[in-house]
Amino acid sequence: MGNIILIGFMGCGKSTIGVKLSYRLRQPMLDTDKLIEKEEGRTISEIFETDGEEYFRNLETECIKKLISTVHNQIISVGGGLPMREENHALLKELGMVVYLRARAETIYERVKHDKTRPLLQCDDPREKIRTLMEKRAAVYEQASDVIVDVDNKDFDTILDEIVNVIE
Ligand code: S3P
Repeated sequence: MGNIILIGFMGCGKSTIGVKLSYRLRQPMLDTDKLIEKEEGRTISEIFETDGEEYFRNLETECIKKLISTVHNQIISVGGGLPMREENHALLKELGMVVYLRARAETIYERVKHDKTRPLLQCDDPREKIRTLMEKRAAVYEQASDVIVDVDNKDFDTILDEIVNVIE
């Protein structure tokens, strides 16, 4: 299908890198969080608050199912929790090449510590929450991906070059 899918923890840079990759490869970019917010007419935080996480996870699975039949040659950034559903792995692979942007918990914390838009991190100790979530997720991201790119301490141009090299 020619799609490139960016997965990874909240704050690993999927959206920013997705936009830059989109310019570099001259391919449009999509973001599952944004698609869901548009379709639902409310923010991710409102969806979590009103209908809960499970409801949101169902929307994510529906979203990538729809993309499989409609989208080609695009860059697709997916929400950080989407690969946690086992059934989504096969869907992601069907959708395109899956690139995992791997970052350490401390890098993530520095990037998201002032963020208010991610419901899972609105807690007393976000640093600890990131660590425990990362422990559960790291191996799953690796399993769900075709390619891993480490992003710690690298500027965006370096990361982009690495992605372009591995997908070519
Ligand atoms: C989530 C990541 C978010 C968003 C939601 C849940 C997660 O997307 O889908 O807040 O479970 O990791 P980003 O990874 O784009 O922040």
